[in-house]
Amino acid sequence: MDALSAISQRVSVAQLTGPGPNQEQVEQLFKAAFRAPDHAWMRPWRYLTIKDKGLAALGDVFAQAGLHKDPEITTEKLEKLKRMPQRAPLMIVAIANIQTHAKVPAVEQRMAVAAGIQNMLTAAYALGLGAIWRTGEMAYDDLVAGALGLSENEEVLGFIYLGHVNCKLKQPPELLLSDFVQEWNGD
Ligand SMILES: Cc1cc2nc3c(=O)[nH]c(=O)nc-3n(C[C@H](O)[C@H](O)[C@H](O)COP(=O)(O)O)c2cc1C
Repeated sequence: MDALSAISQRVSVAQLTGPGPNQEQVEQLFKAAFRAPDHAWMRPWRYLTIKDKGLAALGDVFAQAGLHKDPEITTEKLEKLKRMPQRAPLMIVAIANIQTHAKVPAVEQRMAVAAGIQNMLTAAYALGLGAIWRTGEMAYDDLVAGALGLSENEEVLGFIYLGHVNCKLKQPPELLLSDFVQEWNGD
């Protein structure tokens, strides 16, 4: 698939199944992520790959976090949290490692990581894989951050679920340039 087709046709896929991406595909995904635009080449990203028993362990962490947040949480909600990471055979946790820099504020570092995530999603699509970027309250939970080994200056920017497509790909509506693009000429 050519680059423009991948960029303009990519869709997220929520229903994913095994097998997960193979080692070569995983390397291609990260090579794509590492080509994100990155002011001052700070490389403000770090990624965790989670599969198999790691996904089950993360489900336990999500449940602990849910219980910690709300001691009255229902068993049903706890079970849902436990199952959450197992919605795909591979999860990549995208982490922003925010550093102090005279010219590059934190927001630019977060944007660089986000651009890397987008590159990864596009690469997954081009490889015939399915992927979706998720966050939700677990992405911003201190207990989850601690269990994943994040430092004080790190933030989860996304849980990227990856696998093989297990549904029909959606057909997003075409957006009109006239709705989103205006020429500004200084008048
Ligand atoms: C920062 C960020 C966080 C997101 N979090 C979630 C999420 O937690 N759950 C979800 O279903 N979609 C989430 N999405 C949206 C999906 O990734 C996806 O973009 C959306 O379903 C639209 O599909 P499309 O990418 O095919 O247009 C998030 C997107 C972004 C950019």
